[in-house]
Amino acid sequence: MAKGTAAEDTAAENTAAEDTAPRTAGPDEADLRERLGRLSLDEKVGLLTGAGFWTLHPIEKIGLASLVLSDGPNGIRGTSWDGHDPSLLFPNPTALAATWDPGLAEATGWLNGAQARDKGVHVQLAPTVNLHRTPFGGRHFENYSEDPLLASRIAAGFVRGVQSAGVAATVKHFVGNDSETDRMSYDARIDDRTLDELYLRPFEEAARAEPAGAGAWAVMAAYNQVNGATMTENRPLLTGLLKERWGFDGVVVSDWTAVRSTEAAALGGTDLEMPGLPWSPWRDKLVAAVRDGRVPEELIDDKVLRVLRLAARVGALDGVPGPPPVTTPDDARERLRALASTGTVLLRNNGTLPLRAARGVALIGPNAVRFSPQGGGSAHVDPAHVVTPYEGLRRALGEDAEITVHSGVYPHARLAPLPLALMTDPETGEPGARADFLDAAGGVLLTDHRRAARILSFTDDIPEGTRQVVIRTTVTPAASGLHTFAAAGIGEFELRVGPDIAQVRTLSADGGTMVESLMRPPEHRAEIDLPAGRAVPVELRHTLAEEPFAIAFGLGYQEPHLPEDEELAAAVEAARTAETAVVIVGTHDDVESEGFDRTSLALPGRQDELVAAVAAANPRTVVVVNAGAPVLMPWRDDVAAVLWAWLPGQEGGDAIADVITGAAEPGGRLPTTFPVTETGVLSPVPGPDGTLEYSEGTAIGYRHYAPEDVAYPFGHGLGYTTWEYESMTAAGGTAEVTVRNTGNRRGREIVQCYASGPALPVRLAGFAAAEAGPGETITVPIELDPRLDGPFRLHAGRSIADLVLDVEIG
Ligand code: BGC
Repeated sequence: MAKGTAAEDTAAENTAAEDTAPRTAGPDEADLRERLGRLSLDEKVGLLTGAGFWTLHPIEKIGLASLVLSDGPNGIRGTSWDGHDPSLLFPNPTALAATWDPGLAEATGWLNGAQARDKGVHVQLAPTVNLHRTPFGGRHFENYSEDPLLASRIAAGFVRGVQSAGVAATVKHFVGNDSETDRMSYDARIDDRTLDELYLRPFEEAARAEPAGAGAWAVMAAYNQVNGATMTENRPLLTGLLKERWGFDGVVVSDWTAVRSTEAAALGGTDLEMPGLPWSPWRDKLVAAVRDGRVPEELIDDKVLRVLRLAARVGALDGVPGPPPVTTPDDARERLRALASTGTVLLRNNGTLPLRAARGVALIGPNAVRFSPQGGGSAHVDPAHVVTPYEGLRRALGEDAEITVHSGVYPHARLAPLPLALMTDPETGEPGARADFLDAAGGVLLTDHRRAARILSFTDDIPEGTRQVVIRTTVTPAASGLHTFAAAGIGEFELRVGPDIAQVRTLSADGGTMVESLMRPPEHRAEIDLPAGRAVPVELRHTLAEEPFAIAFGLGYQEPHLPEDEELAAAVEAARTAETAVVIVGTHDDVESEGFDRTSLALPGRQDELVAAVAAANPRTVVVVNAGAPVLMPWRDDVAAVLWAWLPGQEGGDAIADVITGAAEPGGRLPTTFPVTETGVLSPVPGPDGTLEYSEGTAIGYRHYAPEDVAYPFGHGLGYTTWEYESMTAAGGTAEVTVRNTGNRRGREIVQCYASGPALPVRLAGFAAAEAGPGETITVPIELDPRLDGPFRLHAGRSIADLVLDVEIG
């Protein structure tokens, strides 16, 4: 293979399966049983409920270490949210699926596993493999695709990768958690065929033992119900299907607090109740249920064996050789950067991209100023840094290029967190803030340096007796004018800014779930005139009502800024006089998050108006969309180029610049259909009786939309070269497609096969990534979906809407 640019080379190398070490051999079952035999009933049941939010109880007498679990799927957060141990922040999982490359998914899984090993984590709570049933879904960004075959292959690759590093992958959320509204209770009504063909498939391929599946060592049972049974109690699905039919020998862990019963959950098939809060319905209640004969002890034994098997696999059992050592490689940043550009999708291009030798760029848009590297919720990790699009473009274009920056509009409902660059810890003088945990008498129980003016702590991290938590910092404004500070959280707050502001407020949740109030809490804002460069003390004191299960609050900030109309006009003026306008629009984690669904697919605020006005002022307007899930793009045909950058992780700014300048190929293709409007888009909202009817059956995504409702079809994505599809043959479950790179630069193509027939609406049948230099012809083998039963017509092309070759099968 000829060599391309550095970024392309790294992407190509990433596609090779990373780890040459042998996979952990199956544990010695007799040894596990012998250890089990030494445990009392109390010890056994004790192991099945979390010791803390992210840990299990160790049992010294059988050589069992405390197992440590961590979210995923954006990286490995570890066991706390305090930012002390930064994590690699990956591009969001839909961006990974947009590479259409199971080998790259495996390499990405391995890199997650390597981080987990460095952080002492045995179990990663990823991948998230629910389907894109509706783009309104709040966790759409965490999921791979609307298509079960693409989702399955990416999921299986990711699981293999994580586990090749000696870390358990946890396939979640089993099953039917395809949206967030009322997720704790809704009953997804899904017929058997739809479950089998669509929603179960990624779980099956990720969790079945190898070689039929990727052999995941854990599966997470979801919060919701499916067909009348809550998933942690759903015996037909957890026991009948997952454990018995699929032969899954790993651990079924509950989603956090999803176990709401003692017997029903134990009998249903949940093995591990997390996170083991003081009021857990297991522990002594489960011991009593066993003693009373309501839960057979053999069932407890099976659950414990599963936990021990997992422990053996991840090297947490004394005397069982652990997996070979693995550590985060030195080039992790380059890998994340290449992954982000490989997943980036060029939706439209009139030839303006790649930008050659740009000298003057008006960088515009709210996401240029407040970039979104990740979505919100439990997937959140704290990276050591985030490369912004400005930094990326500056590096790529050089110091001589003129780059102006304008937000253009202010679409955010909440203020951004107070930036690290403005904060000084009053105790140490380091950049950052101080967090003090105080008892009822004001005594300091814990004082801690933080790199963010935000606290998110769960039971394990909150010192006993905490009654107040105070965030203190010294802010040195970068500009003179009216600064806005905000207290964000729920409960009692006192906000102090310098000598002039001391405001006490009670903020209450505006409906919504607990998670929603953690993710997007109410705010109280205060404005103050401050000169640049003069340091002021800022303090936010939170008084707790009772012994809390979680503490979540923080300081928001907005620097002096023009009124929105003036800001928009200034942005348009900058565009008019620049050679090229690059407009970065998108969403934010108060729009795309766990805990709630989106209520609109439109870009928040006046972003559409901004794009239209900039495009009218400069014909060389390149729009970069920084979002995890589809948004409506009414201006899409009026701009020079549209680049879909996803939520591209910590190296996102460099990856965007790589693609804009052509240092890297925009390698991605859409793993999900982008609709024109919201009309006809499936709703995530359950009915008043709490049921969420999947009455569309298998007709989701491209199987659902009428052609005129599609803005960009499934599989779509342009590159910087052109391809001709020359021929296709198919035999024995494999198609061979010959394509020629007809352009003048090296490129990456995703060759896609689809099947159709009189009783078979067109669907994805197989795909493979191909790379070729200019003029080169290559033949790409494509493994077809073994579930397809002939006769059918097989098509090949560049997207579901651009099929150029076909052959008759069977
Ligand atoms: C999420 C899971 C996550 C768990 C632990 C839950 O709210 O649904 O995906 O793994 O929390 O953070």
